[in-house]
Amino acid sequence: MTAHALNQSSPLAPDWLAVPSDLNALHPSMWAAGVERNADGEIAVGGIPVSRLKEQFGTPLFVMSESDFRARARAFKEAFEEAFADICGGVDVYYAGKAFLCTAVASWVAEEGLRLDTCSGGELAVAARAGIDGANLGLHGNNKSDAEINRALDMKLGRIVVDSLDELERVAKIASERGEAAKVMLRLTPGVHAHTHEFIATAHEDQKFGLSMAGDSTDQAGLSAAEEAVAAATSYPSIELLGVHCHIGSQIFEPDGFALAAEKLLGFLAEMQQKYSIRLPELDLGGGYGIAYTPVDTPRPAAEIAQAMAAVVRSRCAELGISAPRISIEPGRAIVGSSTFTLYEVGTRKTVRVDAPASNDAESAGKDVTHPRRYVSVDGGMSDNARPVLYDADYSAILASRTSAAAAQLSRVVGKHCESGDIVVRDVYLPEDVAAGDLLAVPGTGAYCWALSSNYNYLARPGVVAVRDGSVRLIVRGETEEDLLNRDMGV
Ligand code: LLP
Repeated sequence: MTAHALNQSSPLAPDWLAVPSDLNALHPSMWAAGVERNADGEIAVGGIPVSRLKEQFGTPLFVMSESDFRARARAFKEAFEEAFADICGGVDVYYAGKAFLCTAVASWVAEEGLRLDTCSGGELAVAARAGIDGANLGLHGNNKSDAEINRALDMKLGRIVVDSLDELERVAKIASERGEAAKVMLRLTPGVHAHTHEFIATAHEDQKFGLSMAGDSTDQAGLSAAEEAVAAATSYPSIELLGVHCHIGSQIFEPDGFALAAEKLLGFLAEMQQKYSIRLPELDLGGGYGIAYTPVDTPRPAAEIAQAMAAVVRSRCAELGISAPRISIEPGRAIVGSSTFTLYEVGTRKTVRVDAPASNDAESAGKDVTHPRRYVSVDGGMSDNARPVLYDADYSAILASRTSAAAAQLSRVVGKHCESGDIVVRDVYLPEDVAAGDLLAVPGTGAYCWALSSNYNYLARPGVVAVRDGSVRLIVRGETEEDLLNRDMGV
């Protein structure tokens, strides 16, 4: 194999994708700590090689490093605690369970001193099963049912995050009928939307979540829905209004959007104080911190984001002449995303020849030239990772069961579903000799993959294993054919 062959890039590859200098090397930003190639050339997590995981649990399989999850949870907590210690005495970190939740994870969250953010009765049921104290739970959702509100009150939740004026009335009524006071945060939409490297600020909100802060969002002239909600909430004896909340987006790398949202919400708190003498003691700035899915993603360390946000809260509170509210945040992806990879087995391969996109291929401009794209099928797909289909999300993959000295070949890793859009990794360079029976690992699948999984085409949803201190245990078992059939009521 010549070095030239190894470094040949394909005109079909997107601009951001470079041919790795070493196809066998793990790019550290995308992997959990403790995942490495062992002396036999296999990828191992906490010393356990993928071949053993495959043998014991089968594929596809979500392979999670418990130590990595715990370390990231601690890092968020410590970084934010430290940055905000002299501003508001610390920060409450709520792990956003929607990213991935099971009872084991809920218990790690509690053991690491974090709280848990839920958004449905089902997530509350997991928290209850894990024995999480209701005081450390929050409940989100734009359309909570009466049963969910009652369940939250039964569990004496630390906060119900109310999403609309309608819901505020409903929570007040239910709590009043129970002779209780519900602890409530109001979710506001500050007109800041962030995605990865950019954010946009708008005055108006056109989305289902939250109470708009724009001045004319209610029937009452000049009054925003947010302001109306504060006034209403404080008039209900059955509501204890704790503060306000916002969540500006997901997979965000730059702290500017968080900073602007914090500024807007602090301004709102100051206004409520001046206008109505209402001092709200808490401010939740949501989640959304990004992770590396490919080598070109460069997330900021938790400490850097925490410092940037603390600087804004400190200076804005001083400008506004208000004392800082207690801050909370809700990271999901940034804690669980990189803790996990999905292990797949390779099946069929095929290569097609594709016209090069004109702009990408100066050499062949004007000529009738095609380039190979190899499809590598694995034994899962959009049922265990819907993100490429849903969001055009990019992932990466690596040959996990052995090393290879073969040349790099532009590949598309696809699933086994009856759907041509069933892509796991749109573009990745894999060794030319990848073949049936090889194991591939796709990193960064801890968040919103298992959580969004389905039984499309009657595929069984994969299990999740957790590795800690060199031992592995199943934390969610994979489905069996029996599971697939047992809700079918028969003929
Ligand atoms: N808090 C609230 C109110 C949220 O709505 C979310 C995510 C989070 C916290 C956690 O955000 P994170 O830190 O994980 O970015 N399925 C999409 C992401 C949906 C996020 C929904 N809300 C995806 O896979 O990219």
